[in-house]
Amino acid sequence: MKTIAVTTAGGDAPGMNACLRAVVRSAIYYGLEVVGFEEGYLGLIKDKKRKMDLRSVSGIINWGGTILNTKRCEEMRTKKGIEKAARALKRNRIDGLITIGGDGSFKGGMGLYRASRIPLVGIPASIDNDIPGTEDTIGFDTAVNTALESIQKIRDTAFSHERIFIIEVMGRERGFIALAVGLACGAEIILVPEIKYNLSKISQELEKGRKSGKKSSIIVMAEGAGTAYAIAHQISDVTGYEVRVSVIGYIQRGGSPTARSVNLANLFGHQAVKTLMRTKSARMVGWEKGEVVVHPLGYIIKQRKEIDINLYRLAHILAI
Ligand code: F6P
Repeated sequence: MKTIAVTTAGGDAPGMNACLRAVVRSAIYYGLEVVGFEEGYLGLIKDKKRKMDLRSVSGIINWGGTILNTKRCEEMRTKKGIEKAARALKRNRIDGLITIGGDGSFKGGMGLYRASRIPLVGIPASIDNDIPGTEDTIGFDTAVNTALESIQKIRDTAFSHERIFIIEVMGRERGFIALAVGLACGAEIILVPEIKYNLSKISQELEKGRKSGKKSSIIVMAEGAGTAYAIAHQISDVTGYEVRVSVIGYIQRGGSPTARSVNLANLFGHQAVKTLMRTKSARMVGWEKGEVVVHPLGYIIKQRKEIDINLYRLAHILAI
């Protein structure tokens, strides 16, 4: 193996830059050359690339976003697009590819491996933490802490005005952020796409809370769990309480990564290079039971990661 490529794909996540640095520096340490493809797989198809030397990743360890830019690449969902990307890898004499991204990028990556037979290692980076085969993803801890900081501020005004707040956090399909943030901020109610809820039961719980002395309440919901404004109207109609909505949004995707996100990026980046040097297949690095692990990517993309229902129950018990 002489030359490897690296790219950041899908939604960005704080810690992607630290991961690029770890990949580039580790690869050079082991005597490899590194090419960076810009804008994820789109840059591969369009041949937008740059040479990554030691200094190309200087000073970026604590930056949010990704210096290589990223795009969601629709073409990679098609056979034609995958074949174009495979040809680009061969044309550029790439012996192995590291994709830093989420589950969509890994599905594309698996297709790319099958079409090119060029070894590939996926590094899980997504604020959603919805990737199987790893308990944590690069950026998740940062997004959770960013949302938590905002909610602490909202709690102040909720308390002063004795209001109920519905706070929408990211998670179009999954509730990992909502669950972690809800538990960490002591939310009265957590709504996630994975668990059905009943608005009249929720209204009753909020009324019960008021009767037991609660002056304000926080509902943390994942964006995929419903429409925050519609839920607010319904709760307000039933209970007569003042309900406000706050959507945290893209703030969660930016900012400097936390130490946890950076160190996960350091460990994953280094392991990905070592794995790429010895595999002939497609792999994903992950974090399980306190250590870095390596899984076959073909297996991972067929799995679904479930939220921890015990955390959901715990949040409910602690919010009485
Ligand atoms: O990065 C993951 C995620 O933040 C989802 O939770 C969210 O729904 C989605 O990306 C939106 O991203 P975009 O607008 O970039 O497609």
